[in-house]
Amino acid sequence: MKRQENYSLLGHNTFGMDVQTTLFVEYDTVDELRTFLQSGELTRHERYIHIGSGSNLLFAGDYQGIVMHSAIRTIEVTEETDTHVLVRVGSGYVWDDFVNHCVMQGWAGVENLSAIPGEVGASAVQNIGAYGVEVKDVIVCVEAMALDGNTRVFAKEECSYGYRDSIFKRELRGAYIVTHVTYRLEKTPTYRLDYGDLRSRVEAHGEPTLKAVRDAVTEIRNNKLPDPKILGNAGSFFTNPVIPRAKYEALKTQYPNIPSYPISEELVKVPAGWLIENAGWKGKALGRAAVHEKQALVLVNLGGATGHEVMTLAERICEDIYTMYGIRITPEVNYV
Ligand code: EPU
Repeated sequence: MKRQENYSLLGHNTFGMDVQTTLFVEYDTVDELRTFLQSGELTRHERYIHIGSGSNLLFAGDYQGIVMHSAIRTIEVTEETDTHVLVRVGSGYVWDDFVNHCVMQGWAGVENLSAIPGEVGASAVQNIGAYGVEVKDVIVCVEAMALDGNTRVFAKEECSYGYRDSIFKRELRGAYIVTHVTYRLEKTPTYRLDYGDLRSRVEAHGEPTLKAVRDAVTEIRNNKLPDPKILGNAGSFFTNPVIPRAKYEALKTQYPNIPSYPISEELVKVPAGWLIENAGWKGKALGRAAVHEKQALVLVNLGGATGHEVMTLAERICEDIYTMYGIRITPEVNYV
C-alpha cells in the first residue's frame, strides 16, 4: 500500500490542478483496503474522497483530508459459454485498456466506449456513456466495500442506473467503495452505429468489426476532445439537459436548428454543447479557463488556471444559458 502525506494531486486530475492532499492512500488489494478502513484513520481526518483517474473532478484548492485510490488491477473470466463471457475486473484497471482487451479477444459490448479516460471502478459509479451505449448495458454486478470493511455485491438492478447516475452517486454516496465490476460481453457482436456519423465512418472500411468501431470512435473523440496531457480538461463539463417536449417546441420556433434526442413522449434531451455554442461561448476564455474551440461542452485549463477560475467560467455560462433559453444546465464534473 502506498501512503503519502502532503501529496501533490497533479498526476491525479486531468484538469491539471496542482493541489495537495493531507494524505494519499493507494491500496493494491481488497485486504489492504479493509485493513486501512478498520484502522480508524478515516475518521481521524476531516473528510475523505475516493478517486479514479481524476478525469471527472475539479479541485477548488488543496484537499484537507484523505484521498484514496484503488490499484486493484486484476482481470479474470468467471464464466464462459458459446455465446458470452463474464469478466470480473479490479476497480483500478484502466478503462480503455479493458476495452482494448475485449476488442482483441473478440468480446463485444464496450467497443463504443473506447478512449474514455478513467478506470473500471468509476465506470460503474458514473455509468459512463458514449455513441449510443452506456456501461450499465454490460454490467452484471458491482462489488463494493462499506466503510466498516464489509463487502456487498450489488446486482445491476440494485444500482439505480440513470444518465451518468447511480446509487453510488446518490443514496450511497461515500458509503461504499467499488472494488470489482463484472461485465458481460457477447461473442457475436450487435453493432450500434446509429449515433452521429459513426456508421459511415465504420462502413467506409467495409463490414464492421469490433476493431473498426473502436478505431472510428477513438478518431471521433480525438478530433473533438482535447488531450488532457496538452490542455487540462475533464471531458463534458455539463450534462445534457432533459426538458419537457412543449418547452422544446417553443424554443424551436425561436431557434429552428436546436437539436434534440427523444427520451419519452413528454421529454427530450438537448445537447448542452449546442446551447453553449449558440450562446456565443465556444472558444471564449475567462482568465486562464476557456471553452474548448472544437467542443463547447468541454471547459479547458489554458495553463495555470485555478479551480475557482474554471468554476467562475462555468457559472457565467450557466447564467447565460438560463437567461437565453430558460434551461438550467448542471455540471457533470464533480467539484471537490
Ligand atoms: N454540438 C454543438 N456544438 C458543440 C458541441 C456539440 O452544436 O460545440 C452539437 C453537435 O452538433 C451534436 C450534439 O451537440 O448535434 C451532440 O454533440 P456530441 O456528439 O459531441 O455529443 P455531446 O452531447 O456533446 C455526449 C456525451 C459525451 C459523449 C458524446 C458521444 C454527455 C454529457 N456527454 O456529448 O461524453 O462522448 O455524447 O456520445 O452526455 C463525457 O461524458 O465526458 C463525454 C465526453
